[in-house]
Amino acid sequence: MSDKSDKAVLIIDGKRYELPIIAGTEGPRAIDITRLYETAGVTTFDPSLANTAVCRSEITFIDGEQGILRYRGIPIEQFVDKPNFVEVAWLLIFGRLPNREELTRFSELLTANELLHEGLKAQFQQIPVDAPPMAILSATLNNLACYHQQFLSIEDEESFEAAAARLISKVRTIAAFSYRRFCGLPFIYPDPKLRYCANFLHMMFSIPYQQYVVTPEVEDALNLVFILHADHEQNCSTTTARIVGSARANVFASCAAAVCALWGPLHGGANVEVVEMLERIHAGGMTAEECIRMAKDKTNPFRLYGFGHRIYRNYDPRAKILKEVCDRVFAKLQRKDPLLDIARKLEELALSDPYFIERRLYPNVDFYSGILLRAIGFPTNMFTVCFAIGRLPGWIAQWREQHIDPNNRIVRPRQVYTGLPETKYLPIDQR
Ligand code: ACO
Repeated sequence: MSDKSDKAVLIIDGKRYELPIIAGTEGPRAIDITRLYETAGVTTFDPSLANTAVCRSEITFIDGEQGILRYRGIPIEQFVDKPNFVEVAWLLIFGRLPNREELTRFSELLTANELLHEGLKAQFQQIPVDAPPMAILSATLNNLACYHQQFLSIEDEESFEAAAARLISKVRTIAAFSYRRFCGLPFIYPDPKLRYCANFLHMMFSIPYQQYVVTPEVEDALNLVFILHADHEQNCSTTTARIVGSARANVFASCAAAVCALWGPLHGGANVEVVEMLERIHAGGMTAEECIRMAKDKTNPFRLYGFGHRIYRNYDPRAKILKEVCDRVFAKLQRKDPLLDIARKLEELALSDPYFIERRLYPNVDFYSGILLRAIGFPTNMFTVCFAIGRLPGWIAQWREQHIDPNNRIVRPRQVYTGLPETKYLPIDQR
């Protein structure tokens, strides 16, 4: 209930409590319950925080009903024509589009920091060859703290930009080295002449006697994949980064923790599940119709991966763009992928099925991203790593926003206890 003075009224045991209602620039208003426990002795129950705004943020706006996504106010569709991931990273982190000088400075910082310390590089030799790249990524991002201890505590903008550049630059090198180790191929050092995405592709796919040649379409497509993953307000991995950062943990530790959250199949790991699902259909392991049936069966944990979203009740705008980019890249590469046809068929079946219509389940970013990454040449086990490279500026931006907020407090939710009441300890011979 809300009265004209923007207060919500709560009546508990006949007693009346007024709660302020706060509003952002756009999006739903929020009832401020920060003093509720103090004043009324009750807490709120919102498992998985599905209806709780955990912070004020100026970074990203989503309207899930209408399928709108904006970075610092700019609709993501406006980044499609000349996709430049480095520019978007700076925009997200520092709050406005960089001017030419700022973009050049940041690009130079990225180039200056693309190498890994030899000690860090040596660690790759100790890891099992078939180690999951997301485990390597998280561990190595955390280990950056050992080699860049000057950034364990960051108090000024210059240090912050330098730390952000180290993370955003080195994440590519870490990702590419983990892939090369997996393939038993020599590490390829970054090439300072190459732009961000071209350099990553070079480290992934060049061989010592043959440089990988990137086409503009593929470079643009990868820029776009990273841009479309760059931030998504308070999702699971970003919330993880913020929670860790709320304890004043450093930016490397916070981003490493976020990678672990992203790894899960309900989050960034879904892009792997999507392609495995499509491959299974292609190999004849199930039909598209059976796949839809399984996804609807409540006794089966299987889901239609790449479908549904906590916030979007409409077509995910990122999926819409990626679907179009898939068509363009496949045409340019003069390639066909049967998985793309299967994905289109699954989408058509799902979008005309009452189960998905009633629940308003649409393709999310993961539905087409794997197919596109596959076309560029990435193996399945690198898909979620690519998501992480894209999301890193978002985690850094959110970490910074919280870090410089004078009102930051350590995140410490409450619970409704459902265990035993006070119980007597029994010595072992009486149990
Ligand atoms: N397949 C089948 N059923 C689904 C799916 C799906 N992909 N997604 C949601 N549902 C069902 C739920 O079981 C629920 O059914 P019910 O009302 O009968 O119990 C109903 O739709 C509503 O679900 P939500 O409350 O919207 O789902 P929730 O917010 O808990 O989860 C999630 C969102 C995890 C993304 C879910 O849709 C899902 O598991 N999707 C598949 C995995 C996936 O693609 N993850 C990537 C998400 S995007 C990202 O992280 C980048």
